Amino acid sequence: MLSFWLHLLALTVYLGSLVVFWFFTLFPLSRLEAHETQVKFLVGRLRIYNPVQIGALGVLIITGAFQLTDLKEAHRALFTKEFGESLSLKLLLAFFVILFSTYQAMGVGHRFVRRSEAPDPVSPEELRSVTKRLQYLTVFILALTLVTVWVSIRI
Ligand code: HEM
Repeated sequence: MLSFWLHLLALTVYLGSLVVFWFFTLFPLSRLEAHETQVKFLVGRLRIYNPVQIGALGVLIITGAFQLTDLKEAHRALFTKEFGESLSLKLLLAFFVILFSTYQAMGVGHRFVRRSEAPDPVSPEELRSVTKRLQYLTVFILALTLVTVWVSIRI
């Protein structure tokens, strides 16, 4: 029961972090005038967003795995028959959520934070490209997570 509530709590934090990142980082970013201010603002927010997103995702996976064990123990022989198909789809979707989320946090977000620490300044083109990728990924991951929630509820 505890893992069920932790699963939902982690999901709330995870979804919340995506929405907050969009409305309080990506949206106001374009309204800032100076290029240096934009870089500083994005780097500051990514330093908070990346660990929160990955941390919540980690808890979501671990508590999901615990629930899977409980569910299997409770249903034994009927487990595959009762949940096999829908659970496989849910886990496939969860796999893609994990894949794209890790890419956004580590491959784009964290890389940009490290890039901003280099001696040569970040160019406007680099900032534009990173912002675009973060925007597309945030919307895509949010949609994918909502589909996963929908499939999970139907199990
Ligand atoms: C990554 C995205 C994930 C999302 C959005 C998600 C979402 C959800 C939601 C909303 C529920 C509650 C369903 C309900 O009350 O009807 C749930 C339950 C469950 N989740 Fe996840 N989950 C995710 C990842 C995982 C992973 C990685 C696993 C397994 C390793 C997992 C295993 C489970 C199980 C077994 C249940 C059913 C528990 C039960 O009904 O007793 N979840 N999930």
